[in-house]
Amino acid sequence: MTGVKGQFTVYYGTFVDAPAFEEPLRFREHCAVGVNAGDGQIRFVEEQCDNPLGYTLQRYPDLVKEHVEVVTAPACGFFFPGFIDTHIHASQYPNCGVLGDDSTLLDWLNKYTFPTEAALSDCKWATQVYSAVIRRTLACGTTTACYYTTIDTEAAKLMAQLCSASGQRALVGKVCMDSNSPDYYVETKEESLQGTLDLALFIEEKLVDPKVKPVVTPRFAPACSSQLLKELGDISREHDWHIQTHLDENFQEIEWVAELFPESKSYTGVYADHGLLGSSTVFAHCVHMTQEEIELVREAQAGIAHCPESNTALMSGECPVTDLYKAGVHKIGLGTDVSAGASCSILDAARAAQTVARHRAMHDRAVDKLSLAQCLYLGTMGGAAVLNMADKVGSFEVGKQFDAQLLDLQSAGSTIDIFPWQREVMVSKGKQGDVKTSAPQPLDTSEIVRKWFYTGDDRNVSNVWIAGKKVK
Ligand code: GUN
Ligand code: FE
Repeated sequence: MTGVKGQFTVYYGTFVDAPAFEEPLRFREHCAVGVNAGDGQIRFVEEQCDNPLGYTLQRYPDLVKEHVEVVTAPACGFFFPGFIDTHIHASQYPNCGVLGDDSTLLDWLNKYTFPTEAALSDCKWATQVYSAVIRRTLACGTTTACYYTTIDTEAAKLMAQLCSASGQRALVGKVCMDSNSPDYYVETKEESLQGTLDLALFIEEKLVDPKVKPVVTPRFAPACSSQLLKELGDISREHDWHIQTHLDENFQEIEWVAELFPESKSYTGVYADHGLLGSSTVFAHCVHMTQEEIELVREAQAGIAHCPESNTALMSGECPVTDLYKAGVHKIGLGTDVSAGASCSILDAARAAQTVARHRAMHDRAVDKLSLAQCLYLGTMGGAAVLNMADKVGSFEVGKQFDAQLLDLQSAGSTIDIFPWQREVMVSKGKQGDVKTSAPQPLDTSEIVRKWFYTGDDRNVSNVWIAGKKVK
């Protein structure tokens, strides 16, 4: 690697990440991670480093110390990769928490969702909602998000601009729906296609921010005509654009799809038959897939956005994540699915993923649980894989972008009580073997992480960086 000139930042302290689904968390202590501030790229990861500034200057003789900033994690803090939300409806943010006890997917869409989305064709409202959802997701440590907006193309462009201005890494989709939708919230096939092209070309040719990309967004099969689905498939292939949609979320929805598309063998088959199943497709939910459908998704190397909070809120079902993984579907990430999911936090989604998996395992001994490490993997590297960004974000590796959050269990406003004796961890090296003493015990790094996972929230997110730029 060549030398660096100009601004350089060294992040120093404990680094935690989850590089692989089947491996434990990786802990790197007294670790210096050097980031070229210009391009946000990680240039070195040096464990057990005593002197981060000295190490950097020795490694890059062209640098002078005035150009090197050192950011040190606090005593009960650690760096963690930024979260990746693979499925979120920016336009539904005002409805977070607003749904009935008996709401299920199709009635919830009609009663709550479509009216709220339709109102955002007024850019005055859209600006407020989209700005707020970006602010909130960043506050929760989400560095990359795959967004749905509404059918309104101008408001979708606005969303792309707001993402770019905020620094967030984002995929932005204009929702397409030309069928089986309310009169006040529907468009023609031509409007859907033209709007999709218009947004994508705006992002690629006018906005020109490498962190913001378009995503072709047929809402779900029932809201699209066969011809629209086909033409959306054609343009996404032609331009190599990502695709996102919903799949196998709810039994009523699945039956409806079977009625609407009798020629296709399954719901997944509908997307496959219209050229929308591929390695750049993100399918949200996938709660009720048949073996045949799982095989189609595996073979195509499509990604799955697991949305446990939404699936619980709408009583859609329990996505069998560990079974899907065992069946060879290895691109699985987490989605908040705001606003069917009430929280913008991927930490909340990760905890919900674990709860759902444990309930499945309690019903059926043959089912595997999800470990804490696996849930955190899904919220970071898993999401990166789903969005085909695994070589760029999701963990701390040389050559990747520095998309990170600094978590501090003792941040201002934190609700976590840490007692003086629990804090020795960052100086000592944690526990060894059995504890045979009545003295109060310090927390080791893995316990600090577990405490954060189960009891932390956005108040513990002290800072967030995307491509090496501080955004919180
Ligand atoms: N299926 C079609 N549209 C939606 C939506 O907005 N949210 C969810 N959860 N499922 C959908
Ligand atoms: Fe959704």
